[in-house]
Amino acid sequence: MHKPEKGWDPVPSAYAKKYAEVNYASLSHALIADVVAFTGDLNGQHVLDLGAGPGQYSIEFSKLGAVVTWHDISRNYLNIAKEKSAEQNVVIAHYKLDYMDNASGQYDLIFNRVCWFYCISDRRFAETLLGCLRENGKMYLVVHNEDFRGSDYNDIPTLTKWRSQFFAAVNNYTGIKIGHPHMSKARIEKLFRGLKAKSVEISHDLEGSTTIKICK
Ligand SMILES: C[S@@+](CC[C@H](N)C(=O)[O-])C[C@H]1O[C@@H](n2cnc3c(N)ncnc32)[C@H](O)[C@@H]1O
Repeated sequence: MHKPEKGWDPVPSAYAKKYAEVNYASLSHALIADVVAFTGDLNGQHVLDLGAGPGQYSIEFSKLGAVVTWHDISRNYLNIAKEKSAEQNVVIAHYKLDYMDNASGQYDLIFNRVCWFYCISDRRFAETLLGCLRENGKMYLVVHNEDFRGSDYNDIPTLTKWRSQFFAAVNNYTGIKIGHPHMSKARIEKLFRGLKAKSVEISHDLEGSTTIKICK
């Protein structure tokens, strides 16, 4: 494994800046409202924003009084999250530069938006996250499924599309991950409904995103 603490960063600075610009501008207040409707008041709650990127949701949860841990592999995003929170006069309580798979601690809420596919093993990761939740803790996940088409979909060469469809099929039928395949809706249902949790709610939208709400 590459070591982020030794300076390795998979996200180039220019890409991180562009992603931050677009994603701060398109921050979803409806998503935040939905998280709060699911969890209740976030004031004083311990929240893990896992794969937090530039930290736009870490900042919003902190504004609501949550004690947020920003956790991501990228130092470029870490610097952006620090800059943006300082600009907005918001304190993100903790920063962890590490692989998502190494998530640890105990939280009231784990929030993970569009980065599930970077984990090493879906099942092991799901169980790790469940283990990081307090009793009655909640997980709010947004993942892309097989129907997702990025804005650059038409520019992707056909061979690359076939290759990623093949790896997605391998993941769907065997659970083995090669690269970062989007899980199929069927696999998502099987994986999350198989967890030992009080409740699991799954909804798929028309754009290829799935929202999963889990209560431990
Ligand atoms: C598409 S971005 C999503 C960022 C943020 N959650 C959001 O909603 O905008 C994916 C994030 O996953 C992070 N990431 C990729 N692989 C990772 C890993 N193995 N461990 C932790 N974070 C990772 C990237 O650095 C990036 O911040």
